[in-house]
Amino acid sequence: MMWIPVILALCAGVTQAVWPIPSSYESGDGVLWIDQSVNIKYNGVAQTASGYGSNSTTWSTRIVSNAIERTYDTLFNKNFYPWKFHPRMSNFEPSLTSNSTYVNSITLQQTASDPTNIMKPTAGGVDESYTLKMTTSGDVTITGASSIGLAHGLTTFTQLFFECSSGGGVYTTLAPVSIKDAPVFEWRGLNIDTSRTFKPMSDMYAMVDALAYNKMNRLHWHVTDAQAWPLVVPSLPELADKGAYASFQKYSPADVQALQEYGALLGIEVVMEIDQPGHTSSIAFAYPDLIAAFNVQPNWDSYASEPPSGTLKLNSTAVYDFLEKLFDDILPRLKPLTNYFHLGGDEVNVNAYTLDDTVGTNDTAVLQPLMQKFMDRNIAQLQANGFTPLVWEEMLLVWNLTLPSNTIVQTWLSDQSVAETVAKGHKALAGNYNFWYLDCGQGQWLDFRPAVSASFWPYADYCSPRHNWRLMYSYDPLSGVPANLTHLVLGGEAHIWSEQTDPVNLDQMVWPRTCAAAEVLWSGAKDASGQNRSQITASPRLSEMRERLVARGIKAEPIQMPYCTQNGTQCAL
Ligand SMILES: *[C@@H]1O[C@H](CO)[C@@H](O)[C@H](O)[C@H]1NC(C)=O
Ligand SMILES: *[C@@H]1O[C@H](CO)[C@@H](O)[C@H](O)[C@H]1NC(C)=O
Ligand SMILES: *[C@@H]1O[C@H](CO)[C@@H](O)[C@H](O)[C@H]1NC(C)=O
Ligand SMILES: *[C@@H]1O[C@H](CO)[C@@H](O)[C@H](O)[C@H]1NC(C)=O
Ligand SMILES: *[C@@H]1O[C@H](CO)[C@@H](O)[C@H](O)[C@H]1NC(C)=O
Ligand SMILES: *[C@@H]1O[C@H](CO)[C@@H](O)[C@H](O)[C@H]1NC(C)=O
Ligand SMILES: *[C@@H]1O[C@H](CO)[C@@H](O)[C@H](O)[C@H]1NC(C)=O
Ligand SMILES: *[C@@H]1O[C@H](CO)[C@@H](O)[C@H](O)[C@H]1NC(C)=O
Repeated sequence: MMWIPVILALCAGVTQAVWPIPSSYESGDGVLWIDQSVNIKYNGVAQTASGYGSNSTTWSTRIVSNAIERTYDTLFNKNFYPWKFHPRMSNFEPSLTSNSTYVNSITLQQTASDPTNIMKPTAGGVDESYTLKMTTSGDVTITGASSIGLAHGLTTFTQLFFECSSGGGVYTTLAPVSIKDAPVFEWRGLNIDTSRTFKPMSDMYAMVDALAYNKMNRLHWHVTDAQAWPLVVPSLPELADKGAYASFQKYSPADVQALQEYGALLGIEVVMEIDQPGHTSSIAFAYPDLIAAFNVQPNWDSYASEPPSGTLKLNSTAVYDFLEKLFDDILPRLKPLTNYFHLGGDEVNVNAYTLDDTVGTNDTAVLQPLMQKFMDRNIAQLQANGFTPLVWEEMLLVWNLTLPSNTIVQTWLSDQSVAETVAKGHKALAGNYNFWYLDCGQGQWLDFRPAVSASFWPYADYCSPRHNWRLMYSYDPLSGVPANLTHLVLGGEAHIWSEQTDPVNLDQMVWPRTCAAAEVLWSGAKDASGQNRSQITASPRLSEMRERLVARGIKAEPIQMPYCTQNGTQCAL
């Protein structure tokens, strides 16, 4: 049964709660308070604010402990005062009296054992569903088949509560609540580019926090690209020593592991990408002999989609040896906390190979078998290490490579790409750039010479305009996919390519727009009656979710002004 907007009709402007929308959500208008003395039990064992704390030994107990700790922190330290969702000057807060009812117990019940790889589940390999019941007398029960399901249930629980203006209490006005929830898609991700601009670890953790709060489960880490190589590879130290922008802009093996672990505790698998053979020019700072067409100027655009041009040579034993050494270093370190590795393969510019002394042509009849051999080598090494490969769609759809059937193909160019990928029997990730590229619409970052400047006026970028949350929300990953192949669409990702996104604007560029993708991926693009989801009902919830993200330290943008949210939906057309 779907959520019914009864509350909106009874009391205009009342808070909505819960993003992404659960599969089934019923709530009332009863008030309950909560304080830090609330009893929490996990499978019958009493928990404290720090759960099992340092006693946690298994991933399952660590995940639940972590979720409990964050629940307390969110409810009591990072909550928000919802004045924007009530009529101006109104007295909307319930009053706390000596006979007010408090939440008196939270029972977490796990109904099955976690899979042994709960710290690095395969897509679909963990049951993320949960149920949540809160009675008017203050008893809360959250059940789930996995620790991750319980963590999602606790995340939802925090979204039912609000803070008093005085800071004098935390309450809900939604009791009783009955929720039954499960994700529609198995892979719900955000792709962050840390090459074009560096993101300090604090930002990476913040993004994971926000992803978890939206029940997403993948952080795709596009760690290297043409412009900079911030990843420290101990067996090839010069890569980062010469290829990072600055010596303080590097990710150490400890950083990588810490981020993986931080994510694993929240059900978010960090999936690293080393894009290749294009998008690798930064390798030339350390190993110039491995890269063809490096930094051709001024006509770099004949050889690459961005400066500096350059590509790994395609028919070079030195390149093969380099890749062997690179993956031998990286893969075993990633292995404990992920099953996946992304090999890239987008935007290969054939003309770069005219300047490649191991090939010397742009003829695809010559290049295609070499590309097949190149990727075969990479994939064989991945598979020998037990990884499932991901590649960008061009490898399958432009280069016609034969890929092992378990290869996940990440599409970005069109809905048709998703359909073609699944028609070839591969699992696909959606993320059409016309909908889910967060970088679009910022205008050009290139500088135009006077002679050509006028022809680029007004300097829009290639995927302009900016994709607002409504556009992102209108995207259906299954659009164009025949019903008998939709099971091959694993999910999708929003993408923050970072030519113009650095730590100063990262939060605003990503949030709350990525919440729209999160709801599509968790709840589906269509509602229970098969209709496209409505902006009218989503908008107040998203405004509220934005306030929750802000309270949690994410500088998410506003999507509307208080006028629109204070008295129901005043800004509908
Ligand atoms: C953790 O272990 C200590 C020592 O064994 C014990 O005293 C304490 O009660 C345990 N805490 C929890 C939350 O289980
Ligand atoms: C409980 O508190 C309400 C005000 O919130 C008051 O109207 C009511 O009389 C109180 N009941 C008792 C039994 O104290
Ligand atoms: C690839 O390299 C090998 C060994 O140098 C060479 O024999 C072969 O001709 C090259 N292939 C092409 C297409 O250039
Ligand atoms: C390959 O190179 C030739 C000669 O430079 C050029 O005319 C042609 O357009 C190139 N092909 C592609 C696909 O770019
Ligand atoms: C892939 O196949 C298509 C359709 O047959 C063809 O047009 C294209 O040139 C092929 N691509 C390469 C790189 O060989
Ligand atoms: C529903 O959304 C799809 C895009 O996913 C769009 O093509 C279609 O026109 C929408 N349907 C209605 C009735 O608005
Ligand atoms: C899927 O359905 C289409 C008709 O819509 C049919 O032609 C095709 O054979 C089916 N494919 C599979 C794998 O069942
Ligand atoms: C709130 O909205 C309702 C319904 O649109 C309207 O009748 C009422 O006048 C509004 N109140 C204020 C204070 O704007």
